[in-house]
Amino acid sequence: MTITKATNITWHEGHVDRAEREKLLRQKGFTMWFTGLPSSGKSTAAFTLEHELVKRGYLAYVLDGDNIRHGLNKNLGFSADDREENIRRIGEVAKLFADSGVITMTSFISPYRKDRDRARKIHQDAGITFLEIFVDAPVDVCELRDPKGLYQKARKGELKGFTGVDDPYESPLNPELVLKTENYSPEQLVAEILDFLTEKQIIKFQG
Ligand code: ADX
Repeated sequence: MTITKATNITWHEGHVDRAEREKLLRQKGFTMWFTGLPSSGKSTAAFTLEHELVKRGYLAYVLDGDNIRHGLNKNLGFSADDREENIRRIGEVAKLFADSGVITMTSFISPYRKDRDRARKIHQDAGITFLEIFVDAPVDVCELRDPKGLYQKARKGELKGFTGVDDPYESPLNPELVLKTENYSPEQLVAEILDFLTEKQIIKFQG
């Protein structure tokens, strides 16, 4: 639970609105929220998509869990409260990025539904598109990949509270898109996302 400590503060409206920024950038900002188990392929999909979007002339940016935990969120661990605060901050940061006109991808386990729903709500309240993308791979597949060796550590009891082993992951109930990463290359997954964005007219590709 977030305690509000900020008092005597006043919202200062800027002179440039979102529409003006969108005109300048020739794109609309929105957020794609990648969620899934550790090693499910969230970051690989998000970074490959970022690369493809930039190649096509769009400004895109990934907020990645491991990376953000090197800086902004380095004071947070993996308790339920810290994960909640991690996701609260990133929901807010993603909203700001998208409001600035950037196509924003977040790549966080974000294991709790209520935290992801809160991120969705603050986007909706601001009139910004929010797409929840469930990066869906069975835990045994994630565990076989295990590029950081963390599942192995958790199985040996050297790492407590690891998502998928002894900490919960709540799958999305109504994600905009489900990516089954098990048998597909990052490029195939990106093609699937681009098809989805085109079909839903969220973005227009010049080819
Ligand atoms: S979240 O649960 O708060 O959304 P986040 O995506 O920021 O997690 O960070 C997950 C990354 O932290 C993993 O990719 C992994 O490298 C590392 N990590 C370290 N400890 C844990 C843990 N107990 N559970 C899950 N991930 C962990």
